[in-house]
Amino acid sequence: MVDPFASRPSPKLIFGNGALSKLSDAVREIGVTSVLLVTDKGIVKAGHVINAQSILESAGIRVHIYDEVSENPTESDAARCCAAATELQFEGIVALGGGSSMDTAKACNFLLTNGGKMSDYHGYGKANKPFLPFVAIPTTAGTGSECQSYALVSRESSHEKMACGDPKALARVAILDPDITDSQPLPVAVQTGIDALAHALEASVSTRRTELSAMYSEAAFRHIARAIDDIVDCSVRGDDRGHMLLGASLSGLAIENSMLGAAHASANPLTARYNVIHGRAVAIMLPHVMHFNEADPEAAKIYVRYSNILRETGISRKPLIDWVADLVGRLELPEITADASDIDKLAAAAALQWTGQFNPRPLEVKDFVDLYRAAFALPKPA
Ligand SMILES: [Fe+2]
Repeated sequence: MVDPFASRPSPKLIFGNGALSKLSDAVREIGVTSVLLVTDKGIVKAGHVINAQSILESAGIRVHIYDEVSENPTESDAARCCAAATELQFEGIVALGGGSSMDTAKACNFLLTNGGKMSDYHGYGKANKPFLPFVAIPTTAGTGSECQSYALVSRESSHEKMACGDPKALARVAILDPDITDSQPLPVAVQTGIDALAHALEASVSTRRTELSAMYSEAAFRHIARAIDDIVDCSVRGDDRGHMLLGASLSGLAIENSMLGAAHASANPLTARYNVIHGRAVAIMLPHVMHFNEADPEAAKIYVRYSNILRETGISRKPLIDWVADLVGRLELPEITADASDIDKLAAAAALQWTGQFNPRPLEVKDFVDLYRAAFALPKPA
């Protein structure tokens, strides 16, 4: 029997080497003749902004540039972008950059069109007025934010990440150009690539999974698994960047349709407390969470199916979890020194994470304690 489901929409995806050249067509398609281009200084330096600007301007589209995006945007970063934008006249938004540019552009869209502050939109579907049409162009293969209707914005005081979602925040078009991701430094590609893999794997077993999200997860996994070995070894070859970019976006659609799980719930407190970069924090936790999830018979079946994909495609003869643990073991991960009281605090914070609710096995604080002890190679308390 097929369980009932209601799908969340996808942006129109324009994929291919050189796809950036289709930007003016995409902007015309969303019905606007002037845009705010939201980006960061690194993307300006890499030359992508001037390329995008000249593509748009040569098609008669007016461009205003906001290049003040900071990493892991906070509520005040979102407010700053909105304040700059209110001084300008434009009809649509283009985000060009990594997850932070996507999040800032989406957050700016919330505030410009609906007012207030980002914490007003924490959750899903709290904005009433229409949004400006939005085109997303990722320059990193990882977050999949270009395919999601959530802006992730940190609270100023606690650094807690708020997921602010609304169906109107979704990009109408996402341009996926592997050539643009060439400028992504390899260490960034490694950690965002592992994050994208974790998105596919967590979404595949989420309690919210549907027929459609399972298709996205599996397709994402197939693309990412083909390239991630090379990425982790910093030896990018052939179509690796294309597989990673498409895989990351399909993972984004899988999350949009099914949510994540306990690897993200337990990774977020590591980022908040020890400033561990998101992809690395997820990498630290992922194999341990998968071992925990294996006790769920349905999750175990899905892991076996993915192990078969690895074997049939000649990628690895290892079972899925061993293959993931091997990838993680080859990363440079930070040493975290945590005592029992640190672990108790981390576990309490992890248990409050919204995304943990969708893990195939429910977790209590004591389960997170065990996961952190396993991740930090500490013995279980007597
Ligand atoms: Fe993630």
